[in-house]
Amino acid sequence: MSKIIYQTPTGMHDIYGKEQLFYDKVEETAKKIADFYSFQKITTPILEDQELFIRSVGEGTDIVEKEMFALKTKGKDLLVLRPEGTAPVFRAYIENGMQSFSQPVKLWYYGPFFRYERPQAGRYRQFWQIGFEFLGDKSPVYDAQAILIAHALLQDLGFKKVIVKINSIGCEECRKDYKKALNSFLRNKKDLICADCKRRADKNILRILDCKNSKCQQVLNGAPQIIDYLCPECKDHFKHVLEYLEEASIPYNLDPSLVRGLDYYCRTVFEIGFSETMEEEALGSLLGGGRYDLGKALKTDVVPGVGFSMGVERIISLMKLNKIKLKQKQEKSIFIVQVGDLAKRKALKLIEDFRKEKIKVYEAISKDSMKTQLTKANKLAINVVLIIGQKEALDNAVIIKDMKTGKQLIVKQENIVKEIKKRIK
Ligand code: HAM
Repeated sequence: MSKIIYQTPTGMHDIYGKEQLFYDKVEETAKKIADFYSFQKITTPILEDQELFIRSVGEGTDIVEKEMFALKTKGKDLLVLRPEGTAPVFRAYIENGMQSFSQPVKLWYYGPFFRYERPQAGRYRQFWQIGFEFLGDKSPVYDAQAILIAHALLQDLGFKKVIVKINSIGCEECRKDYKKALNSFLRNKKDLICADCKRRADKNILRILDCKNSKCQQVLNGAPQIIDYLCPECKDHFKHVLEYLEEASIPYNLDPSLVRGLDYYCRTVFEIGFSETMEEEALGSLLGGGRYDLGKALKTDVVPGVGFSMGVERIISLMKLNKIKLKQKQEKSIFIVQVGDLAKRKALKLIEDFRKEKIKVYEAISKDSMKTQLTKANKLAINVVLIIGQKEALDNAVIIKDMKTGKQLIVKQENIVKEIKKRIK
């Protein structure tokens, strides 16, 4: 019978071994940053109501139009694998009555997200994001602090030269006039834009600005810029954000074409990239975010928010491209070698004694050959090896072998944990 080899679904991957260590490093770094800025972790379900994203991310967006993994449950609920984290966090804030908490509520998350995209460099169908959200405060100081946190996170991960791109897309009011201006600019150019943009021109004209098609980009040269249409309040908000960034010495580039691919944004939008080489550029933005208000779209309370999320796969690819190394943890560790059945039983018990003392034990407990076990200890570069041979097992003794000097010492089994603690303090 021929064997069947099952594979991960397109655009999805297994994470294990060294790769997993990179993910752990990114998560640990984010956790330290979250603790410093007093963000609490939130974990929301992987599946959410389809409507949540249609209403918040928006109907004319790529995510909603093309990229959601949707399913109908046996109970006929329409659910989707979450394509992003802001709408679920906002839902959780409202659903769990977090308006009654001290504001802003600061939440961070780490987990898998799903978008049915064409897989390519830096683009997967299942990918991991780390996100930070401030909910319940409209002050521009938090827009600036969200950018500062994103910046700090990237610095702590080893990226020293990152580029902050920032823009303001104003509020609904300023966008009304802007959309009219953009519409008249495009009136006699509709034949030159791609089919998607032709549709967007009627449905959601702002989306044309972030179309990646080079022909559309060319047509947009000389298009009116939203920044010139901001109302006095939005202008003032943006001015404050930029002043805070300058005060904190965060370099930024104003990017009038930055609108971001999700409908819920208002006022500040930003992305942070790292694009010194073509390979880095091809990975796309590392991180994106901005200010939003999902209350109106979701027909619930008006709650201002601001935040960002970072794509973990892209970060890891860049860490590798930039040869950022993971620091090896220096653990207190030993290796136990055993020979014979009685010794195996004693070793199994000893491992538990060391665990209670937080001393890491490596072993090859199913193996019988002393040579095989010592080879493994050598490969792991462990200096302190405990040997329980048949004789030692009968005498209730353990040999401590120093792998550097080759010196050996016999110790009674009841004293071994105390003796090892002394040696590897
Ligand atoms: P986004 O720009 O759609 O924003 O995604 C954020 C980041 O997720 C991107 O910068 C990128 O690094 C990563 N990413 C997106 N799609 C993929 C993919 N298919 N494969 C690998 N990585 C990907 C949001 O999701 C917003 N929720 C961000 C936000 C938080 N805004 C306010 N708060």
